[in-house]
Amino acid sequence: MSDTPKKLHIKTYGCQMNVYDSERMAEAMGTKGYVLTDDPAEADMVLLNTCHIREKAAEKVYSDLGRLRPFKEAKPDLKIGVAGCVAQAEGEEIMRRMPLVDLVVGSQNYHRLPEMVAATDRGEKPVDTEFPTEDKFDLLPERPLSARPTAFLTVQEGCDKFCAFCVVPYTRGAEISRPVSRILTEAQKLVSKGVREITLLGQNVNGYHGEGPDGDWGLGKLVRALARIDGLERIRYTTSHPNDMTEDLIAAHGEEPKLMPYLHLPVQSGSDRILKLMNRKHTAEEYIRLVERIRAARPDMMMSSDFIAGFPGESDEDHRASLDLIREIGYGMAFSFKYSSRPGTPAAGREGVPSDVADARLQEIQALITEQQRATQQAMVGRDVGVLFEKPGRLEGQWVGKSDYLHAVHVKAEGLAPGALRRVRITAAGPNSLAGELLAD
Ligand code: SAH
Ligand code: SF4
Ligand code: F3S
Repeated sequence: MSDTPKKLHIKTYGCQMNVYDSERMAEAMGTKGYVLTDDPAEADMVLLNTCHIREKAAEKVYSDLGRLRPFKEAKPDLKIGVAGCVAQAEGEEIMRRMPLVDLVVGSQNYHRLPEMVAATDRGEKPVDTEFPTEDKFDLLPERPLSARPTAFLTVQEGCDKFCAFCVVPYTRGAEISRPVSRILTEAQKLVSKGVREITLLGQNVNGYHGEGPDGDWGLGKLVRALARIDGLERIRYTTSHPNDMTEDLIAAHGEEPKLMPYLHLPVQSGSDRILKLMNRKHTAEEYIRLVERIRAARPDMMMSSDFIAGFPGESDEDHRASLDLIREIGYGMAFSFKYSSRPGTPAAGREGVPSDVADARLQEIQALITEQQRATQQAMVGRDVGVLFEKPGRLEGQWVGKSDYLHAVHVKAEGLAPGALRRVRITAAGPNSLAGELLAD
């Protein structure tokens, strides 16, 4: 009798690092005979890879767990696992609140997932949220064939910055950088499997300090080494902290054509008083000067950021300073969030801004960012850009890909394949994507 493979459904919340981790967990479970399914109803195991960054994100996990109850009733041996940052932050508490959960695995323990699943077969309910001394990436299986031309590659994890609002230093632990040789090997393998664009990931990726063949390497040096890999056409990295933008990394943007002209550099607020209360350790002026230096190295750099509206203590004047900074920089895109008080963070005990005031500020920030984003998209019309094509579009004969500046671009064209990198003339801008025509090679 042949074994039918078991089916694993993974739902991923939160940031790109969780996307990367979900892939690696799928690979680890693949070695135990599990194949992925999009449909939780046919799954033998459901794994939620969770995010703790804002209250809404964390609460969503509990409502989704509640929604799994009928599946578990219909199929009692269905395994339900919780991974990621809620797992790390709440551990066993998750099982107390949701007894249907069979295992809880913290963000640094994914290499132990297969043995934890085996323990559930014996009727145990394992919880593992220790920060281990070994490196999970050394112990996870090799990455299989990628079907896509783009890939994430985690180079750094954790954060030592302790911004007053943020759970990440607690859910991901201290900053750790992977050694240069491991990263280069992983990148080389990805490229040999058809990957043409790699996004280097880290909670504080430009704080990268990895062990190189000749001592400590920063991110600039790592990028230059990756750029020498034949067949790798594009390099991106995210997320960066303004205080870790070194001269070498800025210079790399001017010298290395494979390093794409898009930079997500969160500032959170434009008010010095709030930046101080947030423990960001730089002023608005310093951030603006930094962006000037980056644009001096790479004049077409598209900037992106995160903003928090309604941080405790934020006045109308502080809020206007954020709007001023957004106007001054001119973002290609940006994310903004209403402040959410998170247990265990320094700001948690501080008196908040009334919720309706925070909502109104958030809307103002979002409206301004949307306006800038539209203007940036519109300004692309008539320009020629590189586009890395990923897949056919929804319409007949249409292909979609990403521009150098990370815009979604679609064209009508014959004979494209995933991974084709072509020059495209932009002919029209919609709210969320650009349309263009292929230029001759
Ligand atoms: N490591 C990255 C991203 C951290 S989380 C960085 O340092 O920028 C992504 C974004 O979520 C943050 O940039 C911040 O804007 C937002 N965020 C984090 N904690 C938050 C909170 N408690 N309330 C609202 N937004 C928050
Ligand atoms: Fe959170 Fe600040 Fe670290 Fe970013 S730098 S992960 S916002 S503590
Ligand atoms: Fe969320 Fe954890 Fe990422 S809290 S944003 S999934 S690091």
